[in-house]
Amino acid sequence: MGERSMNRQQESAYAGWLRYAPVTDTKLAEAYRSWGSELAVPGPLTEVLQAAAAELTEGFRSMLGRRPVRRSEATQPQAILLGVRGQSAEIDQALSGKAAVPAPDGYVIRTVAAEGCRRIVVAGESDKGALYAAFHLLRLMQNGETLEELDIAEAPANGLRMMNQWDNMDGSIERGYAGKSIFYADHEMVKDTFRVRDYARLLASVGINAISINNVNVHHYETMLISEKYLPDVARIAGVFRAFGIVTYLSINYASPIQLGGLATADPLDEEVKAWWQEKAEAIYRHIPDFGGFLVKADSEFRPGPFTYGRDHADGANVLADALQPYGGIVIWRCFVYDCLQDWRDRKTDRARAAYDHFTPLDGRFRDNVILQIKNGPMDFQVREPVSPLFGALPNTNQVLELQVTQEYTGQQKHVCFLVPQWKEVLEFDTYARGEGSTVAEIASGKLFGRRLGGIAAVSNIGDDLNWTGHILAQANLYGYGRLTWNPGLSSEQIVQEWVSMTFGCDPQLVSAISRILLDSWEVYESYTAPLGVGWMVNPNHHYGPNVDGYEYSKWGTYHFADLRGIGVDRTVQSGTGYTAQYQAPNAGMYESLETCPDELLLFFHHVPYTHKLQSGKTVIQHIYDTHFEGAARAEQFVSDWSALEGRIETDRFSQVLARLQDQADHAKEWRDQINTYFFRKSGIADERGREIY
Ligand code: GCU
Repeated sequence: MGERSMNRQQESAYAGWLRYAPVTDTKLAEAYRSWGSELAVPGPLTEVLQAAAAELTEGFRSMLGRRPVRRSEATQPQAILLGVRGQSAEIDQALSGKAAVPAPDGYVIRTVAAEGCRRIVVAGESDKGALYAAFHLLRLMQNGETLEELDIAEAPANGLRMMNQWDNMDGSIERGYAGKSIFYADHEMVKDTFRVRDYARLLASVGINAISINNVNVHHYETMLISEKYLPDVARIAGVFRAFGIVTYLSINYASPIQLGGLATADPLDEEVKAWWQEKAEAIYRHIPDFGGFLVKADSEFRPGPFTYGRDHADGANVLADALQPYGGIVIWRCFVYDCLQDWRDRKTDRARAAYDHFTPLDGRFRDNVILQIKNGPMDFQVREPVSPLFGALPNTNQVLELQVTQEYTGQQKHVCFLVPQWKEVLEFDTYARGEGSTVAEIASGKLFGRRLGGIAAVSNIGDDLNWTGHILAQANLYGYGRLTWNPGLSSEQIVQEWVSMTFGCDPQLVSAISRILLDSWEVYESYTAPLGVGWMVNPNHHYGPNVDGYEYSKWGTYHFADLRGIGVDRTVQSGTGYTAQYQAPNAGMYESLETCPDELLLFFHHVPYTHKLQSGKTVIQHIYDTHFEGAARAEQFVSDWSALEGRIETDRFSQVLARLQDQADHAKEWRDQINTYFFRKSGIADERGREIY
């Protein structure tokens, strides 16, 4: 398993949560062995079922030191039975038991007894379901659970559970913090796909079923991914993912008809353009019969799009949708559209408003196989943003929620920042679009508005670093993301506990210490960076490290408007950009009013004096000082908390994380001092507690 020339310690970092460490509890190991002597797989075997069987075999071998004997029928008194509906009476019965499982990705894991024999039935409605079931069984074992009375029936909340790679064909990754691409080098696709395969395993183990394999900013070479030159390579990669139940998508360049086809226009209403996309779709599906479709960033940050031709986004998306429709393909059209050339004096243009203003008038005009992909917040993956008001405003349109697993604005995998708690807040946010309970989770899944398509997509955080994510603790974000796409109802605590146990082992002291660090890390990161929802106090372009005015004098529309009197962006209807009106009641009113606006988002919605009293009772300026001193101290505490685990984790992983936490603690001080000094000088108000401000 894994990279061929690795030593044990490196293997641990590489394996992530699929380490399958030997079970040390002898009683438990004995019990597991009694099940794991035989793996019955009646077949016929698809590739995906093969993968499921291989995973179970390897998992049992690695955890218990013995490979199960593989047979088409169970012969032992206890055995694992793996398959899909229609392959054996026991499987069918298990699938039809109580809590029926909806197709196509659902599964059961049931311990059943018949004629003196006992079986753990690991079965899906489809082979994908069976694969997810296999991973689930192994997860239970890695978490030390007993297998004696399993009665599990699961189905995913979301149809589309997608990963977006922002990989470029030169091998770089836009916003990548873990090395180079595992897909491309030197404008070619990699020949040796073992890392792609192991990535597919990691993704499938948490239920991911779709991936787009190139950056949404589609440059020269990537434009050609849909040409005959590269399609055989794309087909090869799609084959690797297919074996793990994952469907491949490509990001496309909207100007392809011009750049690849030599046409004079890419106007979506032009007949030649329509025909060009139809031929293109036909060619793609000749190479990849189960191709997923296109991911499109158009008319955004200088990317081409339908606006050039006086057409709107619905026209733009529909021409692609029509071309893909005969093959069952879909168009995922991103809503990250805004004017990135703003004048600071213009207090009416508001980047936060843009997606809603562009897309709500188009509700109902998109084809059935178009999905709009909406970032969680109205800006751009800041450490704290309100939820995008587009959620709830498009009842007649398919939509997916877009999250960012890669830590662009949240410490770039040098800082630990476990994002599951942030994503949970987004998913649980109540839009009130159909009354109480109209959460983002219900909207994204398609349930609230009865949509056929829906789900969650996220920008990946992996690269070719041996440990995939740069910071080993950042693996938890990838894991947690997948688990939430399957079941947004899982708690952050449960996800963390699973991940730590699988990755580092079930030692309670270790689980509790690492869980604490992860669960606190978002709050800690937020506290020493941008306060009260204002965001953007980072260095321009690369977005790492403090720079309060980094974007203040640029045209990207990301101002905080700090001056000697106050700070924050007035987005109220009464005196500001009117953004608050994009929310439905009661959210609109809650954000509009200074009295009810939650503290953590105050400066996102309001411009206030530094002496404004928060709901917490502190003034804005004192809040800034306190959180920055506390945040930096807590980052320092992470170092001691981790250090206490020495000897409980093997040296490589222990030292890797320790080194990152030390850097984080140093960097947190820099953040603290830059921010505190800036606001002390701006406001002239001293820290009540007289701490050192430079
Ligand atoms: C952010 C990010 C870009 C990315 C863009 C997008 O602005 O910094 O690198 O291209 O989001 O989501 O399209």
